[in-house]
Amino acid sequence: MNDDTVILTPGSRAMLNDGNSIPLIGLGTWGLEGEACYRAVREALRIGYRLIDTAPMYRNEREIGRAMRDSGLDRDEVFLTTKVASADMGYESTMNACQASLDRLGVDQIDLYLIHWPSVGKDLETWRAMEELRSRGLVRSIGVSNFTTAMMDELLDHGSVVPAVDQVEINPFVYDEELARYCSDKGIHLEAYSPLTRGNCLQEKEVLQIANAYQRSPAQVLLRWALQKGLTAIPKATTPAHLQENFDIFDFELYFGDIAKLDALNTVSCLMDR
Ligand SMILES: NC(=O)c1ccc[n+]([C@@H]2O[C@H](COP(=O)([O-])OP(=O)(O)OC[C@H]3O[C@@H](n4cnc5c(N)ncnc54)[C@H](OP(=O)(O)O)[C@@H]3O)[C@@H](O)[C@H]2O)c1
Repeated sequence: MNDDTVILTPGSRAMLNDGNSIPLIGLGTWGLEGEACYRAVREALRIGYRLIDTAPMYRNEREIGRAMRDSGLDRDEVFLTTKVASADMGYESTMNACQASLDRLGVDQIDLYLIHWPSVGKDLETWRAMEELRSRGLVRSIGVSNFTTAMMDELLDHGSVVPAVDQVEINPFVYDEELARYCSDKGIHLEAYSPLTRGNCLQEKEVLQIANAYQRSPAQVLLRWALQKGLTAIPKATTPAHLQENFDIFDFELYFGDIAKLDALNTVSCLMDR
């Protein structure tokens, strides 16, 4: 360890280009609905998670809002992300969709509002609405998801706000270095979705070997890899055991050589859902 080492803790946050900050680990909620969602979010907040990621298409914004209120935490302690769906892209429909999300969540403000998927011909009008939502204070930060560098170039050329975040699929098996370099150059924070490969690659030989060497689980190794890349990761988990395991990644560090071994998995294709 030298003087430049950054010690990551459960409370560590990454600075965004608009002055706000985002936790490094959060709960993804795709596939969590109804009471299962409510219970998972309550448990996550109890464990110490302070970022919850949702979207209208996950059909769980109401349960998430209720779990946040029942947690007893102050609203400003939890970083809440939701997204504008493809069907709602365009200026007026984005304004309306955001208000509908605010109503379902039962909050006055969203911490991070993302364009869920790019849509040819609609990105710029949608981005104009996102900028307006930010200036009205209904959302604190705005960003995109599943955007390539070319798509972000278009926003940068025509918009006045640089996206704070690009949320994309990232894990050792899917890592676009060109996108990472671009985001670093432009000050756009990368957020990793499906950081656990949706469970598909956790039993890969190399991952198991590293996990055994550190006496950690494969999931913890993939999440720690993401942390050491400077990413925010939003693993989805349902059970208390998985939720706890995925949060317990701040008391070990992967050596450079093991990061390199994980980086080399970028060509292995185990990602197809089994
Ligand atoms: N912007 C987008 O277009 C987009 C797309 C996809 C996902 N996302 C976001 O990213 C989040 C995460 O991605 P994801 O849901 O696709 O997949 P993921 O987080 O990579 O994987 C979730 C799977 O891993 C399992 N799991 C969790 N913790 C585990 C552990 N410690 N050991 C073994 N298995 C474990 C979960 O099982 P249990 O549930 O049974 O615990 C679930 O089956 C989503 O929920 C969503 O919020 C965004």
